[in-house]
Amino acid sequence: MDGAKLYDNACASCHGRNGQGTADHFYPSLTSNTAVTAALPNNLVMPISHGLSRKGNDVDVLMPAFGRDMSDAQIAAVSNYVRLHFGN
Ligand code: HEC
Repeated sequence: MDGAKLYDNACASCHGRNGQGTADHFYPSLTSNTAVTAALPNNLVMPISHGLSRKGNDVDVLMPAFGRDMSDAQIAAVSNYVRLHFGN
C-alpha cells in the first residue's frame, strides 16, 4: 500500500505536497499539527475517514470524508505516511 501515492492523490491538493498547507492557513499545515503528532492517531484517522466541517468566522471550513473511497488499509497507509513525513 503506497501511502505517498495516496497522499499525493487525495490530500496534496489542499494540504500541499509537503504538508505545508496554504499560506493563508485556510488549508492547515500538517507539519507539527497536534492531530498528526499526537501519540494516538485518532485525530488523524477520524478526519480522513469522516471528514471535517465547521463554521469559521466568515467562511465554511470543509474537508471531505474519504471513508467511502478508501479502504481501512488505505486510510492506515496514508495516516502512516503523514505521521512519518510530517509528524517528525
Ligand atoms: C478539499 C481540501 C482537503 C483535502 C482534499 C484534504 N483536507 Fe485535510 N483538511 C482540510 C481543511 C479545510 C482542514 C481544516 C479543518 C478545520 O480547520 O477545522 C483539514 C484538516 C486536516 C487535519 C487536521 C485536523 C485537526 O484536527 O487539526 C488533518 C490531519 C488532515 N486534514 C489530513 C488530511 C489528509 C491525510 C488528507 C488526505 C487523505 C486530507 N486531509 C485531505 C481540507 C482538506
